Amino acid sequence: MSSSSIGRRYVFTSFGESHGRCIGAVVDGCPAGLELDENDIQKMLDLRKPGQSIVTTQRKEEDKVEILSGVFRGYTTGAPIAMIIWNTDQRSRDYENLTLKPRPGHSDYPAYIKYKGFNDYRGGGRFSGRLTATFVMAGAIARKLLSQTLRIETHSYTCQIGKVKMKQQTSAKMKNAIYNNEVRCPDSRAAQKMKAVILAARKNGDSVGGIVESVTANLPVGIGEPIFGSLESDLSKALFSIPAVKGVEFGSGFHGSTLHGSQNNDEYIVKNGKIVTRTNNAGGILGGLSTGMPLVLRVAFKPASSISKKQQTVDIKTKKSVSLIVQGRHDPCVVPRAPPVVDSLVSVVLADHSLRAGLISPVIR
Ligand SMILES: Cc1cc2nc3c(=O)[nH]c(=O)nc-3n(C[C@H](O)[C@H](O)[C@H](O)COP(=O)(O)O)c2cc1C
Repeated sequence: MSSSSIGRRYVFTSFGESHGRCIGAVVDGCPAGLELDENDIQKMLDLRKPGQSIVTTQRKEEDKVEILSGVFRGYTTGAPIAMIIWNTDQRSRDYENLTLKPRPGHSDYPAYIKYKGFNDYRGGGRFSGRLTATFVMAGAIARKLLSQTLRIETHSYTCQIGKVKMKQQTSAKMKNAIYNNEVRCPDSRAAQKMKAVILAARKNGDSVGGIVESVTANLPVGIGEPIFGSLESDLSKALFSIPAVKGVEFGSGFHGSTLHGSQNNDEYIVKNGKIVTRTNNAGGILGGLSTGMPLVLRVAFKPASSISKKQQTVDIKTKKSVSLIVQGRHDPCVVPRAPPVVDSLVSVVLADHSLRAGLISPVIR
């Protein structure tokens, strides 16, 4: 596993395992002079942590972050910022029967073959959704950096669970309503229906998937490094690193492929002296570069694979077919915990690109 870091100028490294001693993040490249304390990171971690409601796993983790380096007298120093969270509520026995009987839909089988059984399988090990707490540690810092230097703001929210979709609302309204309910959907009516879908799946010993939408405002024009460092390429790479993500689309996305150019093109107009587009089917990116319009993307999450319904698998050693009922405390739907994770990775990529573009200086005054 030699791919635990992402970014060129804002370099984030994630470490730890779900049931190991701790999980953590190292951020190298954050400018000096950013006012930062643990609370800045904790606020965002609290939005992701498990055990908060009946729509998530009942694993109870405080997820208290400790900053170990890179901050002095309340400001970043420019040195690497190392952060950890100690794991406290592991129940590793739930995973004993999964080593040789891989869960359908989880990483157990390819991981066992690749690492020849040496990987820490407890709680999903490196493949666990728990590692997304490390994404949030790095993301919280990136978010604050972007907000303070360039006024860039990212807001992500649940827009679909199963087949239940939210109604589009104005962005100002949405921003304040995201965390008003357990599913993190700004449309409160849709949120109730979404919750019912998750609880029905849980009652059935099953799980359900959904979509997180993310909107970023105030991006300057021209961020991104075509062609392989295009904004879409780097955002997609980061977002596909979230466990259970199976799709990422920008703007009109897959739907856009059903339209004509005359319907999908965003016409340029001048508004308040600024060149903008009338519509935003491009989702704020053209040619891999930001257009100055809001960055709009959607991330599709599959239904969590660990379900307590009886399933068929194969014993890796005997190659005999066996049935499996997955034990343990699992998310019936991972989506309600994902919006802060999406916010975080979008922020990490945008911070990296803003630094690469020279839009943020190495010392903030
Ligand atoms: C916040 C979060 C929580 C997750 N919780 C669970 C869970 O409780 N049970 C489960 O089977 N998968 C869970 N997952 C997804 C698995 O980690 C993921 O499906 C697995 O590693 C296989 O990777 P893949 O789905 O990306 O192919 C979670 C993912 C996220 C983002």
